[in-house]
Amino acid sequence: MTKHKLRSIPRPDISFASAAGLPAVYLRDAHKSFGENEVLCGISLTINKGEVVSIIGPSGAGKSTLLRCLTLLDTFDGGELAYGDVRVCTLDSERYAKYDAEAMAKARMRFGIVFQDYYLFPHFSVLKNVMDAPIVVQKRDPKEVEESARELLGRLGLAEHADKVPCQLSGGQQQRVAIARALCMNPRVIYFDEATSALDPKLTMDMHRLIRELAADGMAVGIVTHEMGFARDVSDRICLLYDGQIIEEGSPDEVINHPKNELTKEFLSHVEG
Ligand SMILES: Nc1ncnc2c1ncn2[C@@H]1O[C@H](COP(=O)(O)OP(=O)(O)OP(=O)(O)O)[C@@H](O)[C@H]1O
Ligand SMILES: [Mg+2]
Repeated sequence: MTKHKLRSIPRPDISFASAAGLPAVYLRDAHKSFGENEVLCGISLTINKGEVVSIIGPSGAGKSTLLRCLTLLDTFDGGELAYGDVRVCTLDSERYAKYDAEAMAKARMRFGIVFQDYYLFPHFSVLKNVMDAPIVVQKRDPKEVEESARELLGRLGLAEHADKVPCQLSGGQQQRVAIARALCMNPRVIYFDEATSALDPKLTMDMHRLIRELAADGMAVGIVTHEMGFARDVSDRICLLYDGQIIEEGSPDEVINHPKNELTKEFLSHVEG
């Protein structure tokens, strides 16, 4: 199947004239190539306040590339990206993505990401890992940040581990430190890269509850995952990324139980739920 035979789901233009009602994440017709290899071929995606959206798809579909570009670790070649009313990239006259440095800096204050490998600082205590970016990047008052960090560690069941270093914690505990670190930045959007791949069933359930709580608090949550069962249970909406395009999008019931696209059916027949 060649890419041009796939039909990406279109998304209408929106007006940025007023901030009210804008999605927390707005991406329209995003493209990204590595050399000759076009990895993202016109991706449109929105995540609203209080909504959990999972991006699933086979290996090599472009999920990590999409997440890296959404979190400004890499850049799209073409397309439009906005976080609320902060327009990070727009199209120039030749339809290439034009990034605005000031908007990028603002957007970085609006999202957090929990990486699959956590990327905690090994020589910092748990508390310092959580407090570092709010103090260094956001220039917030250390006292206020410590209060917020301790509250988050308590909420995530880590209060007694505040003074340990990451290698003294289990994988699940380290992941919760990474979540506390992302949340301490007070983001409006939080992304998870393979949130549950290293977790046992109990921790997976805890993660499910936490993600739903964050959404209930009004956060927009974007999840990239291989785990169909988790995506089905936690998401309001699932997007299936296949060969650089979103070929199916809808509620978990629509996408998993009543897929329209033959490629979705084929993909689902190969994965466990
Ligand atoms: N930095 C890079 N340079 C060149 N090619 C890349 C780079 N990053 C990703 N690719 C290519 O882009 C395509 C999509 O990769 P990506 O990692 O986004 O897929 P994925 O959906 O996350 O896969 P997986 O489920 O295996 O993690 C692959 O063909 C990959 O080889
Ligand atoms: Mg990946």
